[in-house]
Amino acid sequence: MDSQELLFFVNGRKVIEKNVDPEMMLLPYLRKKLRLTGTKYGCGSGGCGACTVMVSRYNPSTKAVRHHPVNACLTPICSLYGTAVTTVEGIGSTRTRLHPIQERIAKCHGTQCGFCTPGMVMSMYALLRNHPEPTLDQLTDALSGNLCRCTGYRPIIDACKTFCKASGCCQGKENGVCCSDGGVNGLAELQDGDETSPELFSEEEFLPLDPTQELIFPPELMLMAEKQPPKTRVFCGDRMTWISPVTLKELLEAKFKYPQAPIVMGNTSVGPEVKFKGVFHPAIISPDRIEELGVISQACDGLTLGAGLSLDQVKHVLADVVQKLPEEKTQTYRALLKHLRTLAGSQIRNMASLGGHIVSRHLDSDLNPLLAVGNCTLNLLSKDGERQIPLSEQFLRKCPDADLKPQEVLVSVSIPYSRKWEFVSAFRQAQRQQNALAIVNSGMRVLFREGGDLIKELSILYGGVGPTTVSATNSCQRLIGRPWNEEMLDTACRLVLDEVTLPGSAPGGKVEFKRTLIISFLFKFYLEVSQSLKRMDPAHYPSLADRYESALEDLHSKHHWRTLTHQNVDPMQLPQDPIGRPIMHLSGIKHATGEAIYCDDMPAVDQELFLTFVTSSRAHARIVSIDLSEALSLPGVVDIITADHLQGVNTFATETFLATDEVHCIGHLVCAVIAESETQAKQAAKQVKIVYQDLKPLILTIEEAIQHKSFESERKLECGNVDEAFQKVDQILEGEIYIGGQEHFYMETQSMLVVPKGEDGEIDVYVSTQFPKYIQDVVASTLKLSANKVMCHVRRVGGAFGGKVGKTSILAAITAFAASKHGRAVRCILERGEDMLITGGRHPYLGKYKAGFMNDGRILALDVEHYSNGGSSVDESLWVLEWGLLKMENAYKFPNLRCWGTVCRTNLPSNTAFRGFGFPQAGLITEACITDVAVQCGLSPEQVRAINMYKQIDITHYKQELSAKPLAECWRECMAKSSYSLRKTAVERFNAENSWKKRGLAMIPLKFPVGTGLLALGQAAALVHIYLDGSALVTHGGIEMGQGVHTKIIQVVSRELRMPMSSVHLRETSTETVPNTNASGGSVVADLNGLAVKDACQTLLKRLEPIISKNPRGTWKDWAQTAFDQSISLSAVGYFRGYESDMNWEKGEGHPFEYFVYGAACSEVEIDCLTGAHKNIRTDIVMDVGRSINPAIDIGQVEGAFIQGMGLYTIEELSYSPQGMLYSRGPNQYKIPAICDIPTELHVSFLPPSEHSNTLYSSKGLGESGLFLGCSVFFAIHDAVRAARQERGISGPLKLRSPLTPERIRMACEDKFTKMIPRDKPGSYVPWNVPV
Ligand SMILES: Cc1cc2nc3c(=O)[nH]c(=O)nc-3n(C[C@H](O)[C@H](O)[C@H](O)COP(=O)(O)OP(=O)(O)OC[C@H]3O[C@@H](n4cnc5c(N)ncnc54)[C@H](O)[C@@H]3O)c2cc1C
Ligand code: FES
Ligand code: FES
Repeated sequence: MDSQELLFFVNGRKVIEKNVDPEMMLLPYLRKKLRLTGTKYGCGSGGCGACTVMVSRYNPSTKAVRHHPVNACLTPICSLYGTAVTTVEGIGSTRTRLHPIQERIAKCHGTQCGFCTPGMVMSMYALLRNHPEPTLDQLTDALSGNLCRCTGYRPIIDACKTFCKASGCCQGKENGVCCSDGGVNGLAELQDGDETSPELFSEEEFLPLDPTQELIFPPELMLMAEKQPPKTRVFCGDRMTWISPVTLKELLEAKFKYPQAPIVMGNTSVGPEVKFKGVFHPAIISPDRIEELGVISQACDGLTLGAGLSLDQVKHVLADVVQKLPEEKTQTYRALLKHLRTLAGSQIRNMASLGGHIVSRHLDSDLNPLLAVGNCTLNLLSKDGERQIPLSEQFLRKCPDADLKPQEVLVSVSIPYSRKWEFVSAFRQAQRQQNALAIVNSGMRVLFREGGDLIKELSILYGGVGPTTVSATNSCQRLIGRPWNEEMLDTACRLVLDEVTLPGSAPGGKVEFKRTLIISFLFKFYLEVSQSLKRMDPAHYPSLADRYESALEDLHSKHHWRTLTHQNVDPMQLPQDPIGRPIMHLSGIKHATGEAIYCDDMPAVDQELFLTFVTSSRAHARIVSIDLSEALSLPGVVDIITADHLQGVNTFATETFLATDEVHCIGHLVCAVIAESETQAKQAAKQVKIVYQDLKPLILTIEEAIQHKSFESERKLECGNVDEAFQKVDQILEGEIYIGGQEHFYMETQSMLVVPKGEDGEIDVYVSTQFPKYIQDVVASTLKLSANKVMCHVRRVGGAFGGKVGKTSILAAITAFAASKHGRAVRCILERGEDMLITGGRHPYLGKYKAGFMNDGRILALDVEHYSNGGSSVDESLWVLEWGLLKMENAYKFPNLRCWGTVCRTNLPSNTAFRGFGFPQAGLITEACITDVAVQCGLSPEQVRAINMYKQIDITHYKQELSAKPLAECWRECMAKSSYSLRKTAVERFNAENSWKKRGLAMIPLKFPVGTGLLALGQAAALVHIYLDGSALVTHGGIEMGQGVHTKIIQVVSRELRMPMSSVHLRETSTETVPNTNASGGSVVADLNGLAVKDACQTLLKRLEPIISKNPRGTWKDWAQTAFDQSISLSAVGYFRGYESDMNWEKGEGHPFEYFVYGAACSEVEIDCLTGAHKNIRTDIVMDVGRSINPAIDIGQVEGAFIQGMGLYTIEELSYSPQGMLYSRGPNQYKIPAICDIPTELHVSFLPPSEHSNTLYSSKGLGESGLFLGCSVFFAIHDAVRAARQERGISGPLKLRSPLTPERIRMACEDKFTKMIPRDKPGSYVPWNVPV
């Protein structure tokens, strides 16, 4: 077969690919071949949206162009024939004209690290192409497939909302109240403390959206589609052939000829299988524009939908039909619609086809259980003729006689109307409400005998509980003829639990939760149908008890609104002085246009090689042998680096680079394959053969480490006399809490490019890191070079959160070794799965506490033990532990306090620094203890918090003085702004009226110490040059990783030199310009570097003062020229020594911190007691930020951190196998908060400015502190769960683990269903996963 040319358009330009490789996806093609690097790689699995582009396709029959967003990472380029692709570069740029969405997302402060931004822009762009004035629903829907790890989404929504018709309004009528009416829950709305708080952006200056300015669909493609004779296209690659039939006849012929070839439609099922499971297809059939596959027909008995329709198209068709037809006919359609609203993200729904969804038969398919209960028919066709088969349980189980034959094609699906007295319902519960595969889902249908409530037909199918969708056929049979009453429900639950069984070791774990969901859904179905029966025949059927109705209502609505109250600048401040003003992130526009360059966006260097790692598949084993021969023999492979090559340089500080004779975790680096291309390196890596011999013990969990005394290091702090105090208190309680780890999930994975300069051993390292100087040190040591030969460059980092220091240095050292050995540039970019496997994250903690307290809630004695799971090496574990101990008391004065900390060494990848650095875990342990004390005293946790809080001037347990006045202010303000007391009463009222939904409210104070612990760790340097044209170039030691440090630094230069910000430029952070920098982290980057920059500016000013005062009306150009003429240097270094700080761990005292950030947050949640779902209804945050340098950036830091904290404490859950293998290695298994998770209402306010003389313009660093406030959501859920338990007669302290996932919430809301499920005896089975 001859290969043809592939033709499509990208951004209005024709692309002709003569030798197309059918295995190539659009993302690498755009990035590497067309050098359009605005489209980003975040996961490669369709789960993050960073690669979103728009595809437009012309349909010659309808003469319409369909624009839709797709994930370029899953789009095969061969599927693009005749289409127009639009990438972020195609819609606007700084060189041409910005697109309004690019402008607005930047100006509304919707970008931080900017790595997610092009994807966000393109999702929004695709929406605007179809709906220039979208509704808020359409907007949140359009962004449902895009993840952002930095912003917390609120500013992105703000930006996008400006396109909606009524942009200022929430467009939601919650209980009949919308934001513009003020007040939710019938309560008085918060009062704006600062009426004059200026807007963070001004809508008036936005470019209008003018749809006529958009790129037109290329006329050439229209003509082609109209005129070209329909003929199968074939593209042949080295290993794969792509066949694209354009008529049904050709499709059938192709399927006859290649019966094993998959029919690829959206590639969202086949693509991930090829990529992650190694499935290979020599031939692929990809139907294109076959009309019969796009049929939509309505007949007297139901709808027939073409198998080629996208899920999004199906959604629209169904939405239309349910509007037009009576409810009784559309039961199945309504149920399908319900799931289609939450299934995946918008991109996947636009790519995935109905046929692909049905035929791929995923065990967690949302639609198949519904299509099966709805008695759908599959219309098949082959060369032998047509055939119909039912979409039955047998089909779903792939029974050969109920399945498609290899030559058959699914043409369409007939979905019958429902009948009178027939009811269909859909249920699902996932880790996250949207864009997350269901843990369990279900389709249920009942048909009653005419006019009666006796069951005539019953059909129930579940997904997620077996290897395929499972039907409870026998149970349903046995219930036929039974009346619809509680007795029937009870029998139904028992029958279904007997029939749909899950072994304790079932894949996916969460076994008891799944069993509970199976019958909880059944209960919901029972209630839903009862309610419908009542509606149909009120006289005959009883009403549902009011308290039961809550089981059926949806959780609180998804419309968002917010208020922000920040500080005003002093009216006397000069208008051109930018300090204190909400200046946009300097790279904001470039983030939005895709012009911002990240490490992997750098063009290939001549003869560049790619490096990939081979990692251990055993958690604790001896390496018996490594066979590299096969891998080395593969084409393109240049070398494989092992520990033998690194003899003498294989370690740095406490860390070993490549495994020598033992491996200590799954993911331990064993060797590195270097090849001419990424594909070759990856293929060769798979051929490296390693023989292991398992070693004992295998220690994964903290409990196992305690058992084996596998401890790395210990620390203790003590104040007062704890033992004596325990003798004097009214009550003593003991408890413990476990806190799971957290994956950084920075959107840009670990990336580096090392370029040998070819002279004197010099080497340049371009790397995404927070700590260039450390990378320089490690690389220099590995290459046995002096540091002055190794230069490390960082322009920007696509998110880091603490995860781009230790492991990055090891990866960079090995990459540099390879580059140096071969004298060629080497690039290493980790895939998301590798990154998650190798790099470790936040430490899981076990906290044990013993509190002695008085009956009024005063805690007089506290003895706390922290155990952290450090993983297989030290990394920063000890430091994290120490920081946790120093900050553990949060906002409370415990007069007698003893806290111990132990780092456990386990066989997990080494855990490391993460935003908050030990405090989020340590603080949660303390708050859990306080909550227990409150229960014991019969007080609210807030009362106990208030009574134990630091008041005025006090000293901490390590004897550092503090003034806690702002803490009390934050607490008071937060109480007032959140209307805490009124809402507490409202919550209690809600809970009394609702049985199956409960609300909870919690308020948490915050005292976050900021400092570096040691003077030397706080030093910072900067370099400022002034050029003769009057412009300035500034460099400093801080890394721009989204926190806006470069923006703040330019604000500093602008104020100090009284120079417009536009005259100041900042290129990159480099060890070449500013040596011996400290790591960027710990909330102090702008603080310290800003002071150094200020120093440099002041030096310059001092030097130039005589010139300036002689010509005060002159410009910088004049002054610079005069200085030059007088031989006065226009360049200055600036230096800041660091804050005076010390900590003596022997004595347990010191002054490790410079200042404290105070705050408080109040969150209200609603939980669904039957499914464990929760919704954050409202959060109020009050922070004391000193004097904000840039309120827009600071609010962004607080909000972003809060949402990240919410993720930590509620949905982000890592799962490990009993052998120590991390299962959750991508966005499809590990859920970070998405747009659906943000609070419906969010109010952030800053206290009026306060003075802190030592810091930069009295500002406070806010990078980390807000994260802990996310635990207000944890404790609000705790409050709601307690209410549920109390109603069911369960009292006493409630032991919960973090994160409070749907599983934990559901199982804590014990009820008759949790009692009904079978429980496995611990030890009688090997669980699928272990909590580490
Ligand atoms: C990030 C992500 C999130 C997801 N989230 C969800 C979710 O929340 N809920 C959910 O239910 N699913 C979810 N999915 C799964 C998704 O619904 C399926 O992958 C999708 O529906 C498959 O459709 P497709 O057109 O892409 O199939 P393809 O990958 O193109 O094909 C899949 C299979 O179907 C066969 N096939 C396709 N069309 C025909 C035909 N006409 N005749 C015969 N055989 C055919 C192919 O041969 C192939 O074997 C998600 C997937 C991804 C990647
Ligand atoms: S990179 Fe494509 S969705 Fe994540
Ligand atoms: S700005 Fe969204 S991931 Fe960083």
